[in-house]
Amino acid sequence: MRVPIIAGNWKMNNTISESLRLIDGIKKNKLNEEVEKVVAVPFTNLSEVKKVLEGTDIKLAAQNMHWENKGAYTGEVSPLMLKEIGVDYCIIGHSERRQYFNETDESVNKKIKSALKYNIKPILCVGETLEERENGEEETVVKEQVLKALEGVDKDDVKDMVIAYEPIWAIGTGKTASSDDANHMCGFIRKTVGEKYDKDTKLSIRIQYGGSVKPNTIKELMSKKEIDGALVGGASLVAEDFVKLVNF
Ligand code: 13P
Repeated sequence: MRVPIIAGNWKMNNTISESLRLIDGIKKNKLNEEVEKVVAVPFTNLSEVKKVLEGTDIKLAAQNMHWENKGAYTGEVSPLMLKEIGVDYCIIGHSERRQYFNETDESVNKKIKSALKYNIKPILCVGETLEERENGEEETVVKEQVLKALEGVDKDDVKDMVIAYEPIWAIGTGKTASSDDANHMCGFIRKTVGEKYDKDTKLSIRIQYGGSVKPNTIKELMSKKEIDGALVGGASLVAEDFVKLVNF
């Protein structure tokens, strides 16, 4: 059985004090113990958030990392640095990083391998643009992103990974993919993983949907067979909404 995983991607939001208020608001509620909960916070807030997550079952994620463990890479953060803080997950290849910061399938692949080497679980993001979807290219595009990201990655490591299907046209637009489309694409990603590895890996890997997920859409999405969770931006910034998402 795959454990459902709901992750909040705060993106470039929340100062340290704002983060602490948000976590405090979340902690006041009873959260579904059968759902894995993750908050992906800015680098500057990781240490402080880690402290206040102590004693809860909420996991901590970074939103990016470099693939080298140290060196002359001004402004970058290494997996070793994240590991020492106690980061569990790292979002890798988010479309905003691909779009604004020249992240490529090659750098995504290096980051995935590096994260796994340091026991940080990657949440790999893939997804097509509106134009690609209108041209019927969503499967081709997503398959290529998945296969390039997983090049040279061992079967045993893939099982612990999470893949988030986030169609770019649905991110921050209020336009969610229909639950059937989201389910279809998550199933397609699972099939792609199965073809590269084996049935066991295909059945173990967790696949999330992301893109304008809100408290009123989560239940329907989570009722779908291929959808194991959600990667949520905007709605994860409001404690009450994040709690509703987790307690779908
Ligand atoms: P929104 O939920 O704000 O659309 O963001 C989705 C996303 O990009 C999560 O990584």
